[in-house]
Amino acid sequence: MNTLTATLTKYLLFPYRQPDKSALNRYLQNKTILITGASYGIGETVAEMLADYPVRLILVARTAEKLQQIQQRLASRSADCHVIPCDLASEEQCSWLLNQLQQFGNIDIFINNAGKSICRPLLNSLDRLHDFQRTMRLNYLAPVQLCLSLIPQLEKTQGQIINISALNVLLAPTPYWAAYQASKTAFDQWLRCAEPELKQAKITVSSIYFPLVKTRMIAPVYADKPVPALSVEQAAEIICRALYTRKPCIRPWWTMLAQVASVIFHRLWTACCGYYLTVKRKSDE
Ligand SMILES: NC(=O)c1ccc[n+]([C@@H]2O[C@H](COP(=O)([O-])OP(=O)(O)OC[C@H]3O[C@@H](n4cnc5c(N)ncnc54)[C@H](OP(=O)(O)O)[C@@H]3O)[C@@H](O)[C@H]2O)c1
Repeated sequence: MNTLTATLTKYLLFPYRQPDKSALNRYLQNKTILITGASYGIGETVAEMLADYPVRLILVARTAEKLQQIQQRLASRSADCHVIPCDLASEEQCSWLLNQLQQFGNIDIFINNAGKSICRPLLNSLDRLHDFQRTMRLNYLAPVQLCLSLIPQLEKTQGQIINISALNVLLAPTPYWAAYQASKTAFDQWLRCAEPELKQAKITVSSIYFPLVKTRMIAPVYADKPVPALSVEQAAEIICRALYTRKPCIRPWWTMLAQVASVIFHRLWTACCGYYLTVKRKSDE
């Protein structure tokens, strides 16, 4: 990313302060951190940044070889890094993961980051119920299953759940994204409902609403389009800062304006979406 683009995205798209390394170091001492989706993208970069601190990292994703490469790369750093290959979309494998986690004692921080996005017209999805099942399984049911089991541990450690959410969850719905947005919104709502109870149990909840981040996730849709997006390093720095600031809701400053506009101009937005789809269909023909 060139310096100008990095500066613009940092100050306009999602302004944030750099994480304070000494505050992070004080906060993280000897903590056990579970990161799902740590083999690529945002999760991998957060693991890389946290490896310089005296923590135990437990990295989970499906791609075993990639996790092992990361473990080898981080071996000489301060963190004690463990990897557990697991398909979180399977309820049985999630249960197996929870059993494996017992060897590490209590978890202090759970970063719910594993995710799958699908962008597909509804009319091309009529025989694809599985798209909706797998996004719900990974983006909603897996973190619920993990939370239900981890809550007693997090209560003991007065720990933290960090949810990597998407900005679209807070804004007007967009065509083609039904499977992804519905599943991300489901877990966002679940966590917001649970938050008061979790607070009473002294568990901190932080939801981070990211705009686009340049990872392989957005490549199929935006690879050839010059869209404003955070770099993975910027996203990881925002997550590192959320660890010790423990703020409940982290989102760009302009979200509130966009939310108000989503309500006021709801009909206009729907009409614009309809117009866009008509133009697109004609150009595709
Ligand atoms: N990129 C964006 O623009 C953007 C914007 C807002 C929010 N987010 C959120 O940020 C999070 C990370 O996304 P990313 O952009 O870093 O995407 P990414 O590069 O595709 O990484 C996704 C991670 O999730 C893991 N994963 C996928 N399916 C899994 C499964 N069934 N079981 C276990 N792990 C699985 C992947 O590893 P394996 O393939 O090895 O399993 C990978 O480590 C997601 O929750 C996403 O919704 C992304």
